[in-house]
Amino acid sequence: MADLLIRDVKKAYGDNIVIEKLNMEIRDEEFMVFVGPSGCGKSTTLRMIAGLEEITDGEIFIGDKLVNDLAPKDRDIAMVFQNYALYPHMNVYDNMAFGLKMRKFPKAEIDRRVKEASEILGLGDLLKRKPKEMSGGQRQRVALGRAIVREPQAFLMDEPLSNLDAKLRVQMRIELKKLHERLKTTTIYVTHDQTEAMTMGDRIAVMNEGDLQQLDTPEQLYNNPANMFVAGFIGSPGMNFLPGRIEASGDDLFFVGDGIRLHVTKEKVKALRAHNAQDIVLGVRPEDISFESDESIQEVAKATVEVVEPLGAETYVYLSRGSHNFTARIDKHTMMQPSTNVQALFSMDKVHFFDASTEKAIR
Ligand SMILES: Nc1ncnc2c1ncn2[C@@H]1O[C@H](COP(=O)(O)OP(=O)(O)O)[C@@H](O)[C@H]1O
Ligand SMILES: [Mg+2]
Repeated sequence: MADLLIRDVKKAYGDNIVIEKLNMEIRDEEFMVFVGPSGCGKSTTLRMIAGLEEITDGEIFIGDKLVNDLAPKDRDIAMVFQNYALYPHMNVYDNMAFGLKMRKFPKAEIDRRVKEASEILGLGDLLKRKPKEMSGGQRQRVALGRAIVREPQAFLMDEPLSNLDAKLRVQMRIELKKLHERLKTTTIYVTHDQTEAMTMGDRIAVMNEGDLQQLDTPEQLYNNPANMFVAGFIGSPGMNFLPGRIEASGDDLFFVGDGIRLHVTKEKVKALRAHNAQDIVLGVRPEDISFESDESIQEVAKATVEVVEPLGAETYVYLSRGSHNFTARIDKHTMMQPSTNVQALFSMDKVHFFDASTEKAIR
């Protein structure tokens, strides 16, 4: 097992620069997730680490070893893809054993590793089955088994669950976490799904357009997003953004939007004062808007209820005020009627402020 270091890595396909300059450290035994929209460079980064894609510039270290010029087979890592591509004519045992046979491992060692991996994955009774005789989830487990028997320094997984239906995906997500608990092998897991990222990652690298936006724990990404991209990408329903300006009145600051005026809490005044009279964006998560007063510091905004979506355990309320549209996430017991005017309460100790031009968080 090992840590991984990506230093000033650039990737270009001809004139097309896909990754400008990427820096990242992945710790030993860590479960790291790369998340971001399609085309942002997640797979490219993973493939560069694996050695399947050449790097245009920079350095990649696995452990202490510079691997730039090392062939994929010599990097001591194992990959798992969305498309698990098992050998259809081989049974489970042979599918798992194949890579080790090719590497000329002794028979007894192959047997030990395959038996151990199949036991971990609950495939012990299926070793004689052919891929076509198994479910999608079982097949994906065999693909994992193929990686596990290699006993690599790191696992690289590229959307390994994307082919599975939603229910199975949740189940496999939990199994993968358990597997990591047990093996502790450094893992990089690529997904475009923020829920998968949030539930699985020890840390998450949020990427957009080839740039690392923020690398942090799930809690930090959620509570302290570095910019509007991260704030909007992490969390569902997404954070509400209300464009407006900061106005000063004596020692106090107010956020002023279209038909909305909210008193800024003391803790945020210092950072915001420098943005007085400038365009800023207020960000508020749907659960930080409510309709019944609680302990937190709240400010009232008048709004109209547009749509009410009861989901069972909770309810989403879509609201408008002036040119603003925002969503509140409320308790299932709070009744709301469409086309009514309400007083929305903003928890001002929880809101975020962003510079409208740089889109960076103001802290
Ligand atoms: N072989 C290639 N040649 C040219 N451009 C490529 C190639 N592979 C990927 N790209 C481009 O690199 C960008 C990042 O792709 P990729 O890493 O696959 O994104 P992701 O995995 O995040 O969806 C995309 O714009 C894609 O079109
Ligand atoms: Mg990809």
